[in-house]
Amino acid sequence: MNAMEGLVAAAEAHSAHTYHPLPVVIATADGAWMTDVEGRRYLDLLAGYSALNFGHRNRRLVEAAKAQLERVTLTSRAFHHDRFAAFCEELAELCGMEMVLPMNTGAEAVETAVKTARKWGYRVKGVPSEMAKIVVAGNNFHGRTTTVISFSTDSEARADFGPYTPGFEIVPYGDLTAMRSALTENTVAVLLEPIQGEAGVLVPPAGYLPGVRELTRERNVLFVADEIQSGLGRTGRTFACEHEGVVPDVYVLGKALGGGIVPVSAVVSSAAVLGVFRAGEHGSTFGGNPLACAVALEVIAMLRTGEYQARAAELGERLHRELGALAGTGRVTGVRGRGLWAGVDIEPSYGTGREVSERLMDLGVLVKDTHGATIRIAPPLVIGEEDLDWGLAQLRAVLGL
Ligand SMILES: Cc1ncc(COP(=O)(O)O)c(C=O)c1O
Repeated sequence: MNAMEGLVAAAEAHSAHTYHPLPVVIATADGAWMTDVEGRRYLDLLAGYSALNFGHRNRRLVEAAKAQLERVTLTSRAFHHDRFAAFCEELAELCGMEMVLPMNTGAEAVETAVKTARKWGYRVKGVPSEMAKIVVAGNNFHGRTTTVISFSTDSEARADFGPYTPGFEIVPYGDLTAMRSALTENTVAVLLEPIQGEAGVLVPPAGYLPGVRELTRERNVLFVADEIQSGLGRTGRTFACEHEGVVPDVYVLGKALGGGIVPVSAVVSSAAVLGVFRAGEHGSTFGGNPLACAVALEVIAMLRTGEYQARAAELGERLHRELGALAGTGRVTGVRGRGLWAGVDIEPSYGTGREVSERLMDLGVLVKDTHGATIRIAPPLVIGEEDLDWGLAQLRAVLGL
């Protein structure tokens, strides 16, 4: 057994098997590249499921983190700290909203959005106690907590974790008629990913998101957009909702907000919605901590330039042009996505998603499969053009082209 195999075996022996990682052990990373413990380099076409939109160890973000490490890292929310107000104000402004409720992981932010919508439903909309309903979409992925998996349609994510949290109605993604019939006077929110990432980068039909916006507005229901994976530049805009001219009532953000350095998530909305909370009703020891705020403030400053969104749009065109050409060869059966984000369905005779990912790894490219036949491509937005072209050339090679 070599050193790398030894580390893989030790990880298998001492960690719960909740993941099935590719057999590579990373030691260092920079930009769009990672290096394993034996010094082999890999192009990262996953970017930590979009948590690394700005690349590994982005200089601006590392400097912001280092500077904050020398000042103060944690106060808890028992006291104010001097980065908190700026973080909330600037994040709200980036979102065109008024208030922020910071958390840490994506799933926590989704839980927070669920609690926000219910509280708003009872205190503002006047829904009778315990009757609030939230409508979600089939094939969603919003995280792994007990409540969040209660409204998953993925049996792997749900099995043997019951009893489940009630209060959710699941309708097919992209189906406005089903959405319309699911809304009742007790519906407090519709919670959707504007593009379903884990499901395989599924883009809903044109007009779906505006349709949901119209319906929710008509029926006094909050439109909650989970932009944890789709947001913060990935699709070529700050938010994926923007492609359809839609502004939701609530954004749920995470992943890239922490710059790939610290977990930072947030629910962002109007004062009318987030103003429903009173002291003691929700919180988190680490939510909105000084280190998280310092890194996120730098992320927000970088997004404000529009540079990363423009790069994702430009390189995204290149990515989709190349993937479109691959689709023409018959070796992939479907390509979807927006900006620097794609789901690629592999024709089964050329291997499963896992097999293709393993072969790509052997050629120095890291991607992740999903749902058997699909691989996801989501490089850091800072990837070089030549690197992207090289990564796609490896995909062609793996498909025998
Ligand atoms: C759309 C969406 N929501 C929520 C989550 C959960 O985020 P986390 O893993 O940080 O809890 C994810 C993670 O992949 C996601 O893609």
